[in-house]
Amino acid sequence: MLATTGIPRASAATRHRLVAAVGQSQIVPETFAGPTPVWAFNGTAPGPVLRVRAGERLAVDVENGLDQPTSVHWHGIRIDNAMDGVPGLTQAAIAPGEQFSYDFAAPDPGTYWYHSHNRSWEQNARGLHGALIVEEPEPWRGADRDLVLVLDDWRLAQDGAIADGFGQMMEWAHGGRIGNTPTVNGRLGSKVAVRPNERVRVRLINAANARIMEIAFADLPMRLLALDGMPTTIEALSGTVQLAPAQRADLLVDFAGADGDTIPLSLQTRDGPFEMATFALQGDPVRSRYPDPVGLPLSGPAPLPELSDAFRTDLVMEGGAMGSMQGATHQGRWMDMRELVSKGRVWSFNGVAGDMDQPLATVARGRPIVFTLRNATRWPHAMHVHGHHFRVVSRDGRPVASPVLRDTELMMPDETIEIAFIADNPGKWLLHCHMLEHAAGGMMTWFDVT
Ligand code: C2O
Ligand code: CU
Repeated sequence: MLATTGIPRASAATRHRLVAAVGQSQIVPETFAGPTPVWAFNGTAPGPVLRVRAGERLAVDVENGLDQPTSVHWHGIRIDNAMDGVPGLTQAAIAPGEQFSYDFAAPDPGTYWYHSHNRSWEQNARGLHGALIVEEPEPWRGADRDLVLVLDDWRLAQDGAIADGFGQMMEWAHGGRIGNTPTVNGRLGSKVAVRPNERVRVRLINAANARIMEIAFADLPMRLLALDGMPTTIEALSGTVQLAPAQRADLLVDFAGADGDTIPLSLQTRDGPFEMATFALQGDPVRSRYPDPVGLPLSGPAPLPELSDAFRTDLVMEGGAMGSMQGATHQGRWMDMRELVSKGRVWSFNGVAGDMDQPLATVARGRPIVFTLRNATRWPHAMHVHGHHFRVVSRDGRPVASPVLRDTELMMPDETIEIAFIADNPGKWLLHCHMLEHAAGGMMTWFDVT
């Protein structure tokens, strides 16, 4: 498929309805506890897998059955700005009892997701998210099966209910709300059946608020197909796959083995590997010898031009526990840390703790942008740009050879990266940390493409 610069206009829209409301979900096995009260789309957490073909339109009527406002963001889609789902920037939040009709073209095939973008540190953690799969325009025949695995990290109490403690500033100033119940597709200890020797396209989506996941399929060889929805050149991986919050990876995995074998999907934790799901090999083997694996056809935004006359600006990330931030501007005036904490702010971008009245940058449509992001905190952050995919063109001053496209990039403490992209999508776009407590705590800004 050819690279596209703009957002194609397509005709036929597939119409869906998503109702956000309180629901019940059997997250832990029934022998441990009953169903967990969750906030769900159409009664399930995660919500239904939405599918649309690249270039076609998706129409989704979102109805708010909660007792607080909500909205839906279509993470990673190079979307029409009015459909981006950011209350206060691109739409008004959907009030309880109201509905909002999203309708947009999905230009790029790949693995995406949707999630609440209002009080998302609570709404996403309670279950308001789901997978959004944009199919290749021509069916891709490189795998026998396509599996969508939404990874999450719930914090549950003994009785299976979602533990309280939302809005704890101690957590906001540290790594965010880390859970105690890692799940695949909303279940602890999921079982997934595959056939022996089946070649599977595994779409991993990290929907957790804050947990950085390191994932492995026992010792099975994995090949990378795509990151954050965008095809990469096919490449063998060794060890684990890292997924920061909101990141996706499409893998090609050959489930070599015999009927009756099991293969764990494990998450690295401080206490060693945790079995998030079990793949059970069942039935007749698919084939005895594999053809050479093929990658996905490349797609996505146009290649980067020369960056010599790019629009450039710096973003210094500060704050959090063990940092040196003394204070920051909030609600238009400087506040010390004590006062900031009383306002629910513990982080800043360029000395501003989440004030949204001014954009970080205003850039003419079509101009290349380079943002230099400097993590001057003691914590990792998952930096996300709305409406565009970017390339990390340098890391700590060294150019990156053949940078891949991403919409969310994990940054380590003291790291500086330059991200580059063409501002080809007009509108107001967020740039924020996807550790959702950090975003709410001040790590959020926006830029205007005019
Ligand atoms: Cu998935 Cu503003 O983010
Ligand atoms: Cu962060």
